[in-house]
Amino acid sequence: MATEKLIVILGATGNQGGSVAEVFLQEPQWRVRAVTRNPASTKAQALAARGAEVVQADLDSPSTLSSAFENANAIFAVSDFWGLFGDPANAAKAKGQSLNVWAANHETEQLKAVVDAAARIPTLERFVLSSLSNATKWSRGRYTHVYHFDSKAKAESYGKETYPELWNKTSIFQAGFFLSNFVSNPNFQPVMAAHGVAQFVGNLDPDVKLPFIAAEEDTGPIVKSLLQESAGKNVIGYRGWCTLRELSQAFTQASGIEAECIMLPKGQSHVPVPPILGLELDDNWAYCNEFGYEGRDDPTILHPKDLDSSPQLDSVVNYFRKQDWSKVFKQEK
Ligand SMILES: NC(=O)c1ccc[n+]([C@@H]2O[C@H](COP(=O)([O-])OP(=O)(O)OC[C@H]3O[C@@H](n4cnc5c(N)ncnc54)[C@H](OP(=O)(O)O)[C@@H]3O)[C@@H](O)[C@H]2O)c1
Repeated sequence: MATEKLIVILGATGNQGGSVAEVFLQEPQWRVRAVTRNPASTKAQALAARGAEVVQADLDSPSTLSSAFENANAIFAVSDFWGLFGDPANAAKAKGQSLNVWAANHETEQLKAVVDAAARIPTLERFVLSSLSNATKWSRGRYTHVYHFDSKAKAESYGKETYPELWNKTSIFQAGFFLSNFVSNPNFQPVMAAHGVAQFVGNLDPDVKLPFIAAEEDTGPIVKSLLQESAGKNVIGYRGWCTLRELSQAFTQASGIEAECIMLPKGQSHVPVPPILGLELDDNWAYCNEFGYEGRDDPTILHPKDLDSSPQLDSVVNYFRKQDWSKVFKQEK
């Protein structure tokens, strides 16, 4: 229908973009164009089966972005630092640089190409960029190694400085700390101690408030709110704004398993961490502890409840209720 609007979604086969696709596939006045490197993948095919137009494009190939964005009324853009870091093919490209430093620089270049392509779309009404806080800036130069935060923030600054017109149509979505980390990431999965208590172990201060998001469920409703209201928003996306201690209590409520938090000193970890990530992760946790995940001194930060059309999101307890914790604890043995 001619009155339908078109949203182009990068990362549509992933957590954040997948949630945006899920929401907009149910909106009769919107058409979804899902971008993937591989339209034949199971996830891409599932999107096509549900009515999305699936197109091939690659963040590393700017011309493919221009065609993917054609006629878009809205674009949701996301990049994948950990995919770049984890791809063995990229090790050789780092050429003497630390792989995480290379991945961060490359991520910034990919996002700049996205911004360049978006700026050339005359039909565009709203651009939503998935970014993270500038740790170097908001820690006032104290934590300069949170590369996967700064990489996104740098592209955001580039867009703001280079394309004022595009920026008048732009809102920023910052994804909070993924709750899925507690289910599938060995660094954050709770550990079952001999006395039957689940331990949340790490370097985060258990009494600092953090934003926790079910990225695969919450991103879409938040992005929908951002599309319904005026541009210029900078929202920290989450369903739970709570401390790790409160999160462990939500875990107990959901699972019936007693839990506790154990904070390790800087530089110590209960699981092996690749040595090249040591500095980045040390800085990441210290930044969150002292300056806030979202850079709490940033005066532009909005919380989901501050949005004009604030989204209805489920709770952390309900997210934990849906998980099979026996699998998590079995993996430990
Ligand atoms: N883990 C956390 O707690 C957390 C918190 C905040 C932010 N983040 C950030 O979240 C980002 C990842 O987002 P996600 O979890 O939503 O993604 P994801 O589920 O890991 O999936 C990655 C997505 O990116 C797409 N993609 C990757 N490289 C691409 C390329 N060269 N060209 C086009 N598409 C590409 C993939 O599409 P195809 O494979 O189909 O091409 C896929 O849809 C990372 O940058 C990370 O820093 C993570």
